[in-house]
Amino acid sequence: MVQDVPVVRHAQAHADPEVRNAQTGSSHVFTMPSLWQIVEVNSPNPPSTSPGDVSPGRWPLPSPSECFAARRQRLRERFARPVVLASGWARARNFPHNHQPFRAESHFLYLVGRQLEGAALVIDSGGARLYVPQPDPADRLWHGPQPSANELSAELGLEVRFMEDLAGLVAGTATLPPQDPRAAEWLTRQLGRPVSVGGAAALHALDRELAEAMIALRLVHDAGALGQMRQAARVTAAAHAAGLRCTRAGQREAEVCAALRAVIAGSGMDLAYQPIVTVKGEVLHAQRQDGVLGANDLLLVDVGAETPEGWAADVTRTWPVCGRFSATQRDAYDAVLTAQAAALAVVRPGVRFADVHLASQRALLGCLTDLKILRGSLDELLACHAVALFYPHGVGHLLGLDVHDMEDLGDLAGYAPGRQRQLDPSRRHLRLDRDLEAGMVVTIEPGFYQIPDLLDGIDPSGPLSRALDRQRLAAFRDVRGIRIEDDVLVTPDGHELLSAALPRDAAAIEALMAG
Ligand code: GLY
Ligand code: MN
Ligand code: MN
Repeated sequence: MVQDVPVVRHAQAHADPEVRNAQTGSSHVFTMPSLWQIVEVNSPNPPSTSPGDVSPGRWPLPSPSECFAARRQRLRERFARPVVLASGWARARNFPHNHQPFRAESHFLYLVGRQLEGAALVIDSGGARLYVPQPDPADRLWHGPQPSANELSAELGLEVRFMEDLAGLVAGTATLPPQDPRAAEWLTRQLGRPVSVGGAAALHALDRELAEAMIALRLVHDAGALGQMRQAARVTAAAHAAGLRCTRAGQREAEVCAALRAVIAGSGMDLAYQPIVTVKGEVLHAQRQDGVLGANDLLLVDVGAETPEGWAADVTRTWPVCGRFSATQRDAYDAVLTAQAAALAVVRPGVRFADVHLASQRALLGCLTDLKILRGSLDELLACHAVALFYPHGVGHLLGLDVHDMEDLGDLAGYAPGRQRQLDPSRRHLRLDRDLEAGMVVTIEPGFYQIPDLLDGIDPSGPLSRALDRQRLAAFRDVRGIRIEDDVLVTPDGHELLSAALPRDAAAIEALMAG
């Protein structure tokens, strides 16, 4: 069992060498309570024993500042050269003062834990320093007083200076490409070399080494990260339960989405990604929510919360709008649940994730053969990629600060050195192929979809056409798309479902809707 965040009852005396008074440089003793006062840090969220026991619980609790100092220290042990990481700026929505909500760059958040706009973390032989914009007195009118550098320093356990004190970066400083174009421009100016937005394709050699060090850290989650993800999963489960309970025929998809969002926002969290709430489950990442729920529809809901420190949950449930699965919906649902169980059964340290994917595919093919939608031996069906006809995506991906964790670095995090994406239809969308380690968090999210483009594109004289019983498939016309997605922590002896509080079983889903 991986330990959760320890209980911290008081802000603690702190002699971290990183913490110095921002203006005097003198040693600073960390006696002030945090701005988010730490009186109790989240305890483990034990798996629920009663279906539907998914109350939202407490306001999000932050990770202790020691956690970030330890991460910065671990990074220094893996990467000894100087580093600069930008937090980014809020992007304008339609004019500069009406902007998108600010969300800091994930690598910055990992090491600092606060959504500070226009800030940069520098780590070099002098230790770690955070550079922040000097508050503009004129802003007080609109945004109220901002914490001083000293207050921030005390809160973060980190030396804080104003940006104008950043005299320059030493030669050979590494960075990671940001998602924010303004941050990329800022880094380009500071480093005197081009830094472009996102992606691992054109990483400078130094930056690639830093990326590899950061990936090694972020792949295996520490207690602070797990505490955050447990909170995100708990609120996400409560949000889905609210969506399940409020679903009625005649509503729009947006109304169900609003019920989930209310729980997430009311719990002090944000959405980790664009929510998917759709009766068109065959559109894998459907963004529109103007559809009206029909009594015989299945509703696919893929919504996850993000904590204020940026840690994500990613959960999908699919439920019948009327509260009862039809016989065909129930059969297809149970097939996906069987595929998920088969994948979960093999999740443990040392197992290659491509084999988890294969376990889910084999199980789904077995079910579809039992349902007489497909015919042929398992080997024949695998050989003609029959599974990709109904389940064209991967069984899951890394989860952490990003919902597809560290995909800003392309496949560098998801694929172990020496491994690369296989381009056949059964594996091309698999985002992860590493050997699992205790402390990793992954999603397990098989599905079954009837996607017209795929079904219409079958070569009539090929093996897929012979394997598919279209007449039998027509009986499943009330199943457009089903996905069941949970967040899974790899533990030393197996795994733990972080999203276990939310029922998955069809009967439990129906019971929750009836209650
Ligand atoms: N929510 C996006 C995904 O499941 O990967
Ligand atoms: Mn996912
Ligand atoms: Mn998802």
